Amino acid sequence: MTTVEGPQPAAPMPRIGDPAPEFTAVTTQGEINFPADYAGSWVILFSHPADFTPVCTSEFMTFASMQDQFAAYNTKLVGLSVDGLYSHIAWLRTIKDKITFRDMKNVEVTFPLIEDITMEVAGKYGMIMPGEDSTKAVRAVFVIDPEGVIRTIIYYPLSLGRNFDELLRVVKALQAADHFGVATPADWRPGDRVIVPTAGSCGVAAERMSGTESDVQCEDWFFCTKEIPADEVENAIKAK
Ligand code: BEZ
Repeated sequence: MTTVEGPQPAAPMPRIGDPAPEFTAVTTQGEINFPADYAGSWVILFSHPADFTPVCTSEFMTFASMQDQFAAYNTKLVGLSVDGLYSHIAWLRTIKDKITFRDMKNVEVTFPLIEDITMEVAGKYGMIMPGEDSTKAVRAVFVIDPEGVIRTIIYYPLSLGRNFDELLRVVKALQAADHFGVATPADWRPGDRVIVPTAGSCGVAAERMSGTESDVQCEDWFFCTKEIPADEVENAIKAK
């Protein structure tokens, strides 16, 4: 058998709509088999550049503090960096014992943090961006649905901490869109008007503009919205 030497082509980056690439990994909460272990739950799989760094520390404290808010929408958290397990354990202990950030202190990170020294998982998910850094993962976020399909991908550079309100908003908006068969406009939050599917025929376009659907309001035939009260959205998407 011939061995191919030199740089190997990077694995293709996963895309929205693709099945989440499979892997088994050692984590701070034991071994995981991904995404099979998470079937039936939404997951936020996210990478960070390195343990014992300040932006990452602030992000882990925020994620851990919001873990119950994500769980309320059937969403689990899984972190990753290319550091080793003992570094992860030491860093999470330090966070709990020593670090205060905003009003957060004694924060215990109980979601799994993957060790990925070989960069196998980071490679599969396109978390290494050599133009930014070839030895550290960037701040990638993959939102994966209960069927193991990637539904949203967001990347941030090393210097930029993530916006966690936005991550929670993304989870709620994806779930609301699935449940009600609608789309969500710019900056949507539960209680805001939603977009009804664009008319797919001249007949439906004419009907929309004639105003016969009393709950639908159209700016023009292609841009129609309706109200779904916040409590109806929350009741539909909150974990029972
Ligand atoms: C940080 O988390 O503070 C950080 C990590 C890698 C590069 C720059 C900042």
